[in-house]
Amino acid sequence: MGSTQDLADLGISNLRSHVAAELARTRERSAVLTDAVDDEDLVKQHSPLMSPLVWDLAHIGSQEELWLVRDVGGAPAIRPDIDNLYDAFQHTRADRPQLPLLGPAEARDYVGTVRTKVFDLIDRVPLGGRRLVEHAFAFGMIVQHEQQHDETMLATHQLRDGPPALTAEPPPPGAAALPAEVFVPGGPFTMGTSAEPWALDNERPAHQVHVDDFYLDSTPVTNGAYLAFIDAGGYDDPRWWSDAGWAYRQRAELRAPRFWRLDGDRWLRRRFGHVEPVPPDEPVVHVSFHEAAAYAAWAGKRLPTESEWEKAARFDPASGRSRRYPWGDDDPRPEHANLGQRHLQPAPAGAYPDGAAPCGARQLIGDVWEWTATDFLPYPGFSAFPYREYSEVFFGADYKVLRGGSFGTDATACRGTFRNWDYPIRRQVFAGFRCARTPRRGERD
Ligand SMILES: [Fe+2]
Repeated sequence: MGSTQDLADLGISNLRSHVAAELARTRERSAVLTDAVDDEDLVKQHSPLMSPLVWDLAHIGSQEELWLVRDVGGAPAIRPDIDNLYDAFQHTRADRPQLPLLGPAEARDYVGTVRTKVFDLIDRVPLGGRRLVEHAFAFGMIVQHEQQHDETMLATHQLRDGPPALTAEPPPPGAAALPAEVFVPGGPFTMGTSAEPWALDNERPAHQVHVDDFYLDSTPVTNGAYLAFIDAGGYDDPRWWSDAGWAYRQRAELRAPRFWRLDGDRWLRRRFGHVEPVPPDEPVVHVSFHEAAAYAAWAGKRLPTESEWEKAARFDPASGRSRRYPWGDDDPRPEHANLGQRHLQPAPAGAYPDGAAPCGARQLIGDVWEWTATDFLPYPGFSAFPYREYSEVFFGADYKVLRGGSFGTDATACRGTFRNWDYPIRRQVFAGFRCARTPRRGERD
């Protein structure tokens, strides 16, 4: 199958086997993330920002039970007594370690029991007649939910102390001789989607957006470029920071990206238990929105808006249509993008020439989430589905949109239309950024 959009064209039996394969593949990753550490580590809270890993694991099973076993399958509840414990809206992450959670062995038994029931019902539930099951949407939603928790669990691994517990191959090399910026001509393009069967409510519907001429960095901002901002005193100069950003920088005493520390006159970083010199060619990661915006101001640029980002990533001027991904409509393959926790770090800037967008920008998908200048808001014509708590309750100025996914994001959860959101002060996310700018008067004449 070339692309997940072809789900719309898959026969029902192929759709069922696609769902089963995605569920199984995703569970393998969840197992790696939870089997890599001992029971004591699984129940421990490594940061007040995160749940204990054992909470994420049972929560994955709980959502799968609610949506697939009970709702789609119409089967009786397996563990109605634990619904409340694993409802993310009932307990903050900081409070979760105090709850009477399932222990590691119980949690593994529970998710296994749920999964066995789901595999039984994949073969018999109708995949039509109700929007929740059209093109197996509910299964796609649950697959992506587990993948999102796999990325959250990977962030917990990054926050935990102790020796390395995960291993991966290094990413492919970068490219030195790229132009610093690409030009994206102004005009309308189609943003969002009405066609992707597994797209979530906040990506819908497709709609026309006009974007003016702009320049975009060819690659995400590198550690080396970010170090120049640090060395130029960027963290000590309120000129580059918004009021909220400066207040945060003062309060949190920020001096560098999270997980960096100065050793004599060189910067080291801690990455999944490895302490290593900061690699200058790699995209910077673990910076907040405020740091990204301050860097951009210092560089004489700005962060791209969300629509600029998506136009650069998807718009094909030759056909006038928006692609599913920068490289075309095919699902991501390893040569396109650094996704799926195949590598436990971003690839150096300029990597993945096969994943370049029509405008020439690289690494828009994978490597690091990219902060945009835009608040998380609904598209015109938005309607909440299948529940308000998926997106709608988060809309507003409290959250900034991040785009493109990271090395920790699964390919299935990383369409060109996919929207992530977080607080502008968050740094544990695998987030970096690239800059944009408006052409100077006369620059394009
Ligand atoms: Fe969740």
